[in-house]
Amino acid sequence: MTYESTVPGELHDPALKAASSVPEPGAVTIVVPTFNESVNIRELLHRITESVPSRLPCEVVFVDDSTDDTPEVIRDAARDCPYPVTVLHRETPVGGLGGAVVEGIRAASSDWIVVMDGDLQHPPSLVPELVAAGEREHAGLVVASRYIKGGSRAGLAGGYRIAVSRGATLLTKTLFPRRLHGISDPMSGFFAIRRSAVTADVLKPLGYKILLEMAVRARPRHVTEVPFVFQDRFAGESKSTAQEGIRFLRHLAGLRTASPVARMVVFGLIGATGFLPNLAALWALTSVGMHYLPAEIVANQFGVAWNFLLIEHLCFRDRRQHRRWWDRSGRFALLANADLVLRIPLIALFVGQFGMSVLGATALALVTTFVLRFAGTEALVYLPRKGGRAGNTTAAETGRHAGSRTARRSS
Ligand code: GDD
Ligand code: MN
Repeated sequence: MTYESTVPGELHDPALKAASSVPEPGAVTIVVPTFNESVNIRELLHRITESVPSRLPCEVVFVDDSTDDTPEVIRDAARDCPYPVTVLHRETPVGGLGGAVVEGIRAASSDWIVVMDGDLQHPPSLVPELVAAGEREHAGLVVASRYIKGGSRAGLAGGYRIAVSRGATLLTKTLFPRRLHGISDPMSGFFAIRRSAVTADVLKPLGYKILLEMAVRARPRHVTEVPFVFQDRFAGESKSTAQEGIRFLRHLAGLRTASPVARMVVFGLIGATGFLPNLAALWALTSVGMHYLPAEIVANQFGVAWNFLLIEHLCFRDRRQHRRWWDRSGRFALLANADLVLRIPLIALFVGQFGMSVLGATALALVTTFVLRFAGTEALVYLPRKGGRAGNTTAAETGRHAGSRTARRSS
């Protein structure tokens, strides 16, 4: 951490350092995603007006997916604001909350962007401090954290949500120990980023966890944290649903398998679990009297099906749209069975031609066919086809999300 202030005398006095607030402030764009938050807008803008000092030029960009009158309320309340307020209303809420935030980041022109919720669970009074901390410590990303000294999750309603939040944080930190090093609260929806540190194009947000997306895919070099107290909602209800939890798990899987090496590891781990259904089917088939040789072949298909299902969902979720499912499963099964067929002549070759031991040859053949199968699966099952089938996940995403929206409205 480097403390290079514009005024050297301030270096040793923390109080002064805090008071120095924004040394040479760039402007700040506050991005607020909203979904039916009309009851909170006026108070939010009012508190932003109170909190952001005049020497920090600011603008507010709402990215709105509401089905109520939130956009009108924003336009109306904006008349009383001394800074520009923009509403980007999206007809198709691609990527949900995370997608909205990325749209806002694209639209922002300031040096700093602060992302915060529209329900006042994130105190606007902290906005200047987030930017100041970033300037002070030359950080690209400043996370408002509930989990460092001085922060708390007071507004997380109920033991259930606290437990879920804790579990999710732990799981996420375990999956990305290096990328999330120094980020105690990767689930936070409150943070500041330096314009120059984000490349919105690498982001593929899915649902709520936009900070996680940003930290993992576009990790800015210097990250710092500022404690904050997660408040109670000012009014209205949380938009988070159980479905959002499922989306989060899919988001995690997508992030974890983004690099080819990680994908190969997951592919291998899934492959190793395939012996379970394989053995179970073998046992069932032989116990109803099938000869063990055809039973082996049939049982292997159970392992293949199991692997296919897991690999589809955990490794290639966002690359399934290029082929239909029967096309993908057919190709996958062919590759998996070719693996078996290829292994024996390969072992014969290693032993006969290269004089390897049977064990060594078998191990080498296993590894070789595994790598071939992984490469084959990537290239022949999940690679986008030129001029191939139209359609993409985001569109599918939108459809699902719109569905959940209807459910929410009717509840
Ligand atoms: N544009 C848009 N589209 N905004 C959305 C959507 C959407 O689909 N869904 C929710 N929002 C907006 C809400 O209107 C609110 O301003 C903000 O996103 C947060 O939504 P809440 O429904 O209040 O979320 P929460 O309080 O359960 O979760 C918040 O706190 C969590 C920490 O526990 C979020 O900040 C999470 O990201 C955070 O992990
Ligand atoms: Mn909230």
